[in-house]
Amino acid sequence: MTLSMLPTGWFQVGWSADIAVDEIVPMKYFGTELVAFRGQDGEVHVLDAHCQHLGANLSRGCVVENGIQCPFHGWVWDGSGRNVEIPYESKPNRVRRVRSWPVTERNDSIYVWHDLARREPMWDVPHAFAALGPVFEGAEYFPLTDGGRVRYPGIHVHPQVIAENAVDPHHFRFVHKTPHSPVVLRETSEGEVWRAKVGFGRRWADGVDIPEETANTIEILWSGIGTSFSGEHTRDGLRIAGVCATPVDDTTSEIFGTYWISAEHGNFEERLDQAKVGLPDDIAVWDTQIYLDPPGLSPSEAAGFRKLRTWARSFYPEPAETRA
Ligand code: FES
Ligand SMILES: [Fe+2]
Repeated sequence: MTLSMLPTGWFQVGWSADIAVDEIVPMKYFGTELVAFRGQDGEVHVLDAHCQHLGANLSRGCVVENGIQCPFHGWVWDGSGRNVEIPYESKPNRVRRVRSWPVTERNDSIYVWHDLARREPMWDVPHAFAALGPVFEGAEYFPLTDGGRVRYPGIHVHPQVIAENAVDPHHFRFVHKTPHSPVVLRETSEGEVWRAKVGFGRRWADGVDIPEETANTIEILWSGIGTSFSGEHTRDGLRIAGVCATPVDDTTSEIFGTYWISAEHGNFEERLDQAKVGLPDDIAVWDTQIYLDPPGLSPSEAAGFRKLRTWARSFYPEPAETRA
């Protein structure tokens, strides 16, 4: 079985810094050409790329107030995809619409809502720092720099495969070269949210969680299968890694790695580099991995994987809604 590359949820399409006011950025996700722009009110909009007049690509147009003007005959479409102006007619076209994608700008990032059945968003993108708990919410962070935003395009991976990392402590020894596998100390799923606390080192070897104790732990949060945040308690302070994968076509995804480093211990560049070392090693595996269903799991890991795959099933459209 293969997993549908058209799952439901919020998916990252860029960072806030990618799109200035008046700027237009072409993009392609979910097999669809898109155009993103930031209007003069500061809001980002994402539309299907093609003008509903005669099909020109809007990404070669320009921003007019809070809308986008087609380069071909100057029709202007607003952020909700309605035509608001035909320069050579007294009235706009009230019938044709360009598809507008729900957008959330949060966590220095831009996300779109994708749902094959075109249902409205069923949940909000979490505020990453708050969602990871009061310690992460209360900390100060260095501002996000170019170095804290890493894009991995064209990776042959399904977002769910990345989410399965949350129940896969044993890959740490082989992929990330930790001396021992970490242990999952807590694991809950509620609606679209999957949470886990993972502990590293002898302190946590017995697998018993101590709720208020966080040394050498990672707090993992998934919101749907598109967006994830890991809050890490390291010896040098806190750091948060966002790992968000967005389907591009039937076989590839783009992965967005975002790294926030807490300010209290300084030493920014070194800690940022440290935060970034793990993901490329994961990606090297994912890029050539196939999806097995069912997989050949060992006794100690079977329950976690089963639970995660059951949770993930809710993010796929019903068969009747699947594009043929
Ligand atoms: S094709 Fe866009 S205005 Fe004509
Ligand atoms: Fe990993």
